Amino acid sequence: MNIFKHADDLSGFLKERQKQGFSIGFVPTMGALHRGHISLIKESISKNQITVCSIFVNPLQFNDTRDYEKYPITTEADILMLEESGCQVLFLPGINDIYPNKNIHQKPAPIGQLENVLEGAFRPGHFAGVYTVVYRLLKIVMPSNLYLGQKDYQQYLIIKNMAERKFKNVCVIDYPIIREESGLALSSRNRRLNKTEIKTASELYKSLKYIKQHISPGNWHSLKREQIKKLTEKGFKVEYLELADKYNLSISPIFKNKKKGVLIIAAWIGGVRLIDNIFL
Ligand code: PAF
Repeated sequence: MNIFKHADDLSGFLKERQKQGFSIGFVPTMGALHRGHISLIKESISKNQITVCSIFVNPLQFNDTRDYEKYPITTEADILMLEESGCQVLFLPGINDIYPNKNIHQKPAPIGQLENVLEGAFRPGHFAGVYTVVYRLLKIVMPSNLYLGQKDYQQYLIIKNMAERKFKNVCVIDYPIIREESGLALSSRNRRLNKTEIKTASELYKSLKYIKQHISPGNWHSLKREQIKKLTEKGFKVEYLELADKYNLSISPIFKNKKKGVLIIAAWIGGVRLIDNIFL
């Protein structure tokens, strides 16, 4: 695997390959890789001649500095996993490569209504930070295909909208959530949970599945109340549990049909904030 630490070196390498007609798949990450990331890498490898993974913990997208400071850094293990997966290129930039001249202020991002709902409402500035770093990474990598996991579903929609406006040659592909056998969605933050919390954390997905199985016109609000109560009793602090339109995340006050719906949740357990979602 080729490892690049500087944007110019990576761009030069990739431009040569693009001239030869190679298609480039890109998986941006913040490291602490798990099977979810590797599923994106493998999907990219199966569809592109070159797969680039980036690892950069972006300070701009952490609305809580403690979360940034505690973010797991496991670069050596990440490199081993990437090599094993067959990934051809790793981009491991320093802060100056992503934000030259210490310009770590986010540009006002034209995100629109998706910026301030759900995750955006609880993590002010988070999506502006994500938008800024992904914009910068796409300018450097200029991939043919960009792969994102469905766990960060709101992020996926925001980046897809950005690509449609600003990177018309980049196709944004979402990939299903990878889960533990218990149903817990894989996340780098799961490393911060102890054994008991990991067990409890799988209740999030159980609640989503329960609602999906039982929802019908007229019972959404009682199902929501009942599942929040159940999760609270198990030790969660639920920030939101909503039914939304899967194309634009506008919140649906009532349930009509399963076609366009996504159930989406954020909750704290043991000092760790988890998110999850399920299509109806
Ligand atoms: O999903 C993530 O890991 C990050 O938000 C991303 C897309 C790599 C941007 O920093």
